[in-house]
Amino acid sequence: MLSSIQIQSYAKINWALDVLFKREDGYHELRSIYQTVSLHDQLLITETSGQIEIVCDDPRVPCDETNLAFKAAAALRDATHTSNGARIEIQKRIPVAAGLGGGSSNAAATLLALIKLWKLQIDERELFRIAAALGSDVPFFLIGGTALGVGRGEEVYSIEQVRCENLLLVNPGFAVSTRDAYEKLSRLTRPEPASIIPFSQLAAKGIRELPLAARNDLEAPVLAAYPEIAEVKRRLLSLGARHALMSGSGATVFGVFDNSQAAEQSETELREAGYWAERVRAVDRYEYHATLFQ
Ligand code: C5P
Repeated sequence: MLSSIQIQSYAKINWALDVLFKREDGYHELRSIYQTVSLHDQLLITETSGQIEIVCDDPRVPCDETNLAFKAAAALRDATHTSNGARIEIQKRIPVAAGLGGGSSNAAATLLALIKLWKLQIDERELFRIAAALGSDVPFFLIGGTALGVGRGEEVYSIEQVRCENLLLVNPGFAVSTRDAYEKLSRLTRPEPASIIPFSQLAAKGIRELPLAARNDLEAPVLAAYPEIAEVKRRLLSLGARHALMSGSGATVFGVFDNSQAAEQSETELREAGYWAERVRAVDRYEYHATLFQ
């Protein structure tokens, strides 16, 4: 009988994040291309007699009912009319509120693990509905790899998988609120018609070009408010990154390098300068699903 289960909870970056307009429900209509990367938290989930508990080695992560993994367990229990419990231990490696989807990934990993642990039968559409109610990025982590996100990001489609071996994530050590990032963008006037990129970008350049053509509409307003993030981007480029871009709503910036030596040397230099820096590679959907439960 299964009584505990381990799951890897991967981070993401965005190859594209196009914000089209603010919708009547307050969310922004997006066209995004998500990508899972090799950095991951580790979750150990153990059955309990009924209560849901969160334990985390990072004091910045709330361990109460506001934690997205807690909400995920509670939502799954409600949806399946069960009274199971779980203790969710999170070994945090993904920086918190960093544009890397850590909380959303923990929530999706919790759903996938609890379906096994609690031996639930759940309709796929119902699972995606629960995930979307937890947060816009949560459904993406049910599929992983390279995926297109539309709507507020919650409607996801797996696409051709991007290969990218030499990425460097750099975080300046402070959090950026996702809500604030979108609000900053909304205050800017955007006279040009809504962009249809990434579709046009994909059609013109193909999937292999995405890492060097990556773009993010949230970057300009967030960099204007936080010059420290612009400085990270500048440093990555001066250390030889072919391209550098803020991930999601920040503050993490990813650099795309040509080879592992350049990425490794930049990682060392940026760590010496006091930044959190971690070399990663893109994880495609096949690897994602093959390694979730390792
Ligand atoms: O969906 P999630 O809870 O992760 O979103 C956090 C906040 O980010 C939302 O409350 C909203 O202010 C903003 N957001 C948005 N448009 C999106 C996604 C998020 O305005 N597509």
